[in-house]
Amino acid sequence: MPPIPVITIDGPSASGKGTVAERVAAALGFHFLDSGALYRLTALSAMRHGVALDDAARVAELAATLPAAFRDGSVWLAGEDVTDAIRAEAVGDGASKVAALPAVRAALLDRQRAYRQTPGLVADGRDMGTVVFADATAKIFLTASAEARAERRHKQLIEKGNSASLPALVADMQARDARDTGRAVAPLKPAPDALLLDTTRMDVESAVQAVLSHYRGR
Ligand code: DC
Repeated sequence: MPPIPVITIDGPSASGKGTVAERVAAALGFHFLDSGALYRLTALSAMRHGVALDDAARVAELAATLPAAFRDGSVWLAGEDVTDAIRAEAVGDGASKVAALPAVRAALLDRQRAYRQTPGLVADGRDMGTVVFADATAKIFLTASAEARAERRHKQLIEKGNSASLPALVADMQARDARDTGRAVAPLKPAPDALLLDTTRMDVESAVQAVLSHYRGR
C-alpha cells in the first residue's frame, strides 16, 4: 500500500501559509493540520493553569493531555471555544516560547502524526517537512519579507477593529523569526527537498496554484 500523501507547508509567521494550506487542502479534499494551533493551545493552557512557560515538565504534561478539538473552523479547549483567544499576540508569543522546549515538541509529535489519514493531509507549521512528516510527498517552504508579513498582519488587525503599529509589528516579526530560527530543536528552516516559494509579491491564489502544481508533478 502506498503511504498516505502528505503536503507540508512550513514557513515563518504571517507568511500566508495557513490560508494557502487550507485552500490546498480544500482543493484536494485532504485533511488539514494547523500545527501552530497546538503550540498556541499549549501556551494558552499553561497561562490558564498558572504554569510558567519555561517549566518544561509541566508544560509538556499539559501538551500531552490537551483536551483540544478542531470542529468546523473553530478550536475548542476543554469545551470552550478559543478560536479567537489563541490568536491573541500574547498567546502567539507564549507559543513561540513553549515551542522551544524539546519535551513539549516530543509530547505533540504523535498527536500531529495521527492527522495523516486518507485521502491525504496538508500540514502547516515550522517543522512539518523536516521532522514531523520527513517522508512527505511534497514539501513547500513559504516565505515573504518581514515587512510584507508585518503589513499583512497590520491589515488583519485593523480589519478586526484593533489598533496596531506597523514598526512594532515588523520588530515583533523579526524577534519571533529569530527565536523560531535560532532554537536548538526543530528550528525553522527549509527541508533540503522543499520547494521555496517567496510570496512577497504573490497573491494567495497564485501561491495555491504553485503548491498544487508542485504536488501534482511529484
Ligand atoms: O504558525 P503560528 O504562528 O500559529 O505558530 C505559533 C508558534 O508555534 C510559532 O512561534 C512557532 C511555533 N510552531 C512551531 O514551533 N512548530 C510548528 N510546527 C508550528 C508552530
